[in-house]
Amino acid sequence: MSSPRTIGLLVGREESFPTAFIEEVARRGVPGVSAELCRLEGTRLDDPRRYAVLIDRISHEVPYYRSYLKYAALVGTVVINNPFWWSADEKFFGTALLARLGVATPRTVVLPNKSYIEDISPASLRNLAYPLPWERLAEYVGFPAILKPNTGGGFKSVYKVHSLEELWRCYDETGQQTMILQEYIAYDHYVRCICIGRREVLPIRWDPRLPWTERYIVDHDHLSPELGARVVRDARLINEALGYDMNTVELAIRGGVPYAIDFTNPAPDFERARIREPYFAWVVEKMADLAIAYATGADHPPGRMRWDRLLAEAGPEG
Ligand SMILES: Nc1ncnc2c1ncn2[C@@H]1O[C@H](COP(=O)(O)OP(=O)(O)OP(=O)(O)O)[C@@H](O)[C@H]1O
Ligand SMILES: [Mg+2]
Repeated sequence: MSSPRTIGLLVGREESFPTAFIEEVARRGVPGVSAELCRLEGTRLDDPRRYAVLIDRISHEVPYYRSYLKYAALVGTVVINNPFWWSADEKFFGTALLARLGVATPRTVVLPNKSYIEDISPASLRNLAYPLPWERLAEYVGFPAILKPNTGGGFKSVYKVHSLEELWRCYDETGQQTMILQEYIAYDHYVRCICIGRREVLPIRWDPRLPWTERYIVDHDHLSPELGARVVRDARLINEALGYDMNTVELAIRGGVPYAIDFTNPAPDFERARIREPYFAWVVEKMADLAIAYATGADHPPGRMRWDRLLAEAGPEG
């Protein structure tokens, strides 16, 4: 039975992280604090708060969970990650924000969709230049370039293109997705940072060209002290700016400069077989630290919503 200090987990198929996390919270023995899989069965407007903290690993694929999590946040549950921001988040906006915060970013353009739902006719698109000034857009980004979705993940619909003709051919396959066109960073080193609580950063050597089970490489000495410090500083800044408490940040390093490639992974891969030990143990420890600190009120999540003040004014009946 959940108590005011219970930590709930919403999970997909993954096994290793939820089990290890629940055991770790139990092992800590903090009075009243325990963790369990959350069970949902439809949500009413007057449902009480059931959890102090909810860790969301799957609401991007189960939309009802996202709705529930917004409701849970309204009634005072700390949700990792903030479901409102996760719903709004896009790669193009994030890249534009980071560029202004001094993080190195690839030149990026967001494009209108290739196609639309049936009801959209040319008259619906009168604000849109046609044809697009492809030459100018491509010139800004340069070739080779990456064409990839503005939202989403899993390496789906990620193209590397070398010419306008190839760009058009790939763009023609993208249907109703909003795509970004991005400067290709010819990296000599690639780092995937697991980031917890906006402060804890674990920069792992990662090779996206290898099969999934081999991509994370256990190597404790792959960054110079200067580059390591910059990677950690950038990753902290990115998570502070986006408010993510659980994330992975991918940086491609070219000429000693880390470029932010993919920094919106709010349900990062925590599978032991892929991220491997000792990284898996680090994740479980840091996630337990964070969730327990939120559950006990020792720490507070970032960001307040506009309605928080109005709710406080409306009082307990509001
Ligand atoms: N601008 C770029 N320069 C060089 N390589 C890139 C660039 N953008 C993407 N890539 C490569 O393509 C891969 C997939 O791109 P990205 O991570 O942005 O997509 P994703 O589908 O969100 O991936 P994930 O499954 O990690 O969420 C990256 O890991 C990187 O190897
Ligand atoms: Mg990625």
